[in-house]
Amino acid sequence: MGKLEGKVAVITGAASGMGRATAIRFAREGAAVVVADLNSQAGEETVAEIAAAGGRAVFQHTDVSSDSALKALFDRAVSEYGRLDITFNNAGIGGATGKLTDISSEDWDKTFVILTRAVFLGIKYSIEPMRKAGGGSIISTASVAGLRPAAGLHAYSAAKAAVISLTQSAAIELGHDFIRVNCICPGGVVTPLVYRGMRGGEEEARRNMARAQPIPRAGRPEDIAAMATFLASDEAEWITGAAMVVDGGMNTGNARLNFAPGFSGPSFLRPDRSNEPPRTR
Ligand SMILES: NC(=O)c1ccc[n+]([C@@H]2O[C@H](COP(=O)([O-])OP(=O)(O)OC[C@H]3O[C@@H](n4cnc5c(N)ncnc54)[C@H](O)[C@@H]3O)[C@@H](O)[C@H]2O)c1
Repeated sequence: MGKLEGKVAVITGAASGMGRATAIRFAREGAAVVVADLNSQAGEETVAEIAAAGGRAVFQHTDVSSDSALKALFDRAVSEYGRLDITFNNAGIGGATGKLTDISSEDWDKTFVILTRAVFLGIKYSIEPMRKAGGGSIISTASVAGLRPAAGLHAYSAAKAAVISLTQSAAIELGHDFIRVNCICPGGVVTPLVYRGMRGGEEEARRNMARAQPIPRAGRPEDIAAMATFLASDEAEWITGAAMVVDGGMNTGNARLNFAPGFSGPSFLRPDRSNEPPRTR
């Protein structure tokens, strides 16, 4: 018997990366899954892969920056499968990047709408159906950048820190209803989000990211799916308000000391200042 037998899950960003891996894993563990994403074609592919393996899933086209689209997503879970037990607020973008002086307020707001407001709304619209089900598990994807800000990712880091804080305040409010609220802080995981802009693509990302933390391999979407499965399952029934770090040890610090000479880590984590002379004022 699977770990999630009889449960119903909503997953945003389930057309790609961690969301897709989690949808496939949840279905394998016996959950019925509502796959939500902006990308209809890839979302339908996730559903087809689940169905081919004998699992249950439907696709709901969803833009998480729309309040009404998120409401419709949670209504679909209940109309399709009769209940809601698990929500995985996972859809995300890199958002506004660059120096503070380069970031417009529009780009700042867009980053927060997708990374933070969508998590708030995902929690909000889970409450009523989860109360009816007698409890539930809400999981959101934060980031190690929400614990220690990443260079050049001001908006992203602040938005993910807000997800961690919201996870804690929501856990306090909803514990009485046996609705658990947790988040996952991934380190560097090889998904299109990180390699889309890289010249060497997926392979280059995997090579570089293998050296970004004490455990010498890059993160895989399945590493995050495993943690999400645990948090969604009854095995985690006394865990709420937690930020679970899944990062190969990146957040322990000092991983850079292990790097080969000349390697400065993934550019999205820290600026390479190794060639700059020391400065005095
Ligand atoms: N990859 C990493 O190293 C890493 C590290 C820490 C946290 N994260 C977070 O993990 C989550 C998943 O990212 P991933 O790495 O799997 O990336 P990904 O690009 O593979 O998947 C993200 C998915 O979100 C969807 N999406 C984007 N905007 C959307 C919107 N407005 N509405 C609906 N869907 C939308 C995309 O279409 C895509 O399918 C994100 O929240 C991201 O910030 C990623």
